[in-house]
Amino acid sequence: MRRISGVFAAAGRIELVGTHKPYRHRFASCHYPSKRALHRWTLILIPGGCRYQIPSLRSVLDNMKKLLVLPGDHIGVEVIDQTLRVVDWLRTHADLEVDVTTDIIGGASWDRHGTFVTDTVVEKCRVADAILFGAEGGPKWDEIKARGGPKMLSGLRQLRKDLDLFANLRPVKPFDALDDASSLKPEVVRGVDLVVVRELTSGIYYGQPRGIETRDDGSRRGIDTQSYTDAEIERIVRFGFELAMSRRKHLTSVDKANVLRSSVLWRDVVTEVAPDFPQVTLNHLYVDNATMQLVRDPKQFDVIVTDNLFGDILSDGAAMITGSLGMLPSASLGPVDSSGHRPALFEPVHGSAPDIAGQGIANPIAAMLSLAMALRLALERPDLADRVESAIAGALNTGLRTADIAADPSKATSTTEMADAVLAKLALTS
Ligand code: IPM
Ligand code: MG
Repeated sequence: MRRISGVFAAAGRIELVGTHKPYRHRFASCHYPSKRALHRWTLILIPGGCRYQIPSLRSVLDNMKKLLVLPGDHIGVEVIDQTLRVVDWLRTHADLEVDVTTDIIGGASWDRHGTFVTDTVVEKCRVADAILFGAEGGPKWDEIKARGGPKMLSGLRQLRKDLDLFANLRPVKPFDALDDASSLKPEVVRGVDLVVVRELTSGIYYGQPRGIETRDDGSRRGIDTQSYTDAEIERIVRFGFELAMSRRKHLTSVDKANVLRSSVLWRDVVTEVAPDFPQVTLNHLYVDNATMQLVRDPKQFDVIVTDNLFGDILSDGAAMITGSLGMLPSASLGPVDSSGHRPALFEPVHGSAPDIAGQGIANPIAAMLSLAMALRLALERPDLADRVESAIAGALNTGLRTADIAADPSKATSTTEMADAVLAKLALTS
């Protein structure tokens, strides 16, 4: 009996024909599968001329979850590099079976292809089970985007639209060790556990008309359009109610219905949907009041559902409850299709931070927490999500702090050192 094993550099059907002609194979390119998947494909050759056909490795890969990694620009690349070390660790030590591919987006894509996201990348995103996104953009490309036009959308905004990633979840749950990192008092932030559910594919981010026009007298006028249909509001509001049902059953809808027509419709739709969720306690807040309440007493919130622009602003504010924007992960989910597939993108809420890029000081935790969300919501490994989160908590408990959360920035740890600490703690989790 002879045992053949090892990494197949390529996939395809492998036919075993006796021992004299050991095997023939057809190759098709692919990415290497996890060790565990390979073990399943250890071949046993029994002498005697029998013919064995094994299923193609591609079919194994097709059954594996697909993770598409889009690091983007500046610190996006730095934090994703460190997060991929966590992915590798999980594949090697925790049976995470995932097919990982990487591609470019944002400025990197503009420089190579003249577009912030190529159609090829959009197609890869469509079939991925999870997209792990870093951050994109920087001053070099700002002017190009500002010129407007649909093709000038950032890669991220294009992806959100093309994949219909309407539901953006931004959980705000500070780590105990970071009580003192927030600008708010420890007693205000300790125990906060809320989620901002932001509508992500409509509203003023996409409404038409938009642009900057020059008028007859030579003066200029900038225009953006805030617009929502009842269907767009209803699906995100239902999402918010359903999420509240799985949590503490409290939903706060945030709008500006005292001024904006789109908000009047928003509030009407929320009120119409509410009877379908009788167990959920609902309240409505105007966005200015919600902002104040968020810093006054954030513990009053469970799930906050709001539109695209308000969600963008509120979630940056809410990030400070956790100590830093560098701590806030997010998930952006699309509708589930008939085959049960749901587009899902996971990204740190922070941007590409060109001002600190290249110094190795960015906080990788928001990206790692985004990976944890991917493990929980898209890759069917909630157990590993728990492990990543407790490893991060463990690393923070040792007192390590990147500059954004350090009381004394001169003692701050680097991006890589923080990742080292998380990996060391991961090894202790089970
Ligand atoms: C966010 C970001 C983006 C947004 C930018 C980068 C377009 O601020 O995800 O919150 O405004 O949606
Ligand atoms: Mg934002």
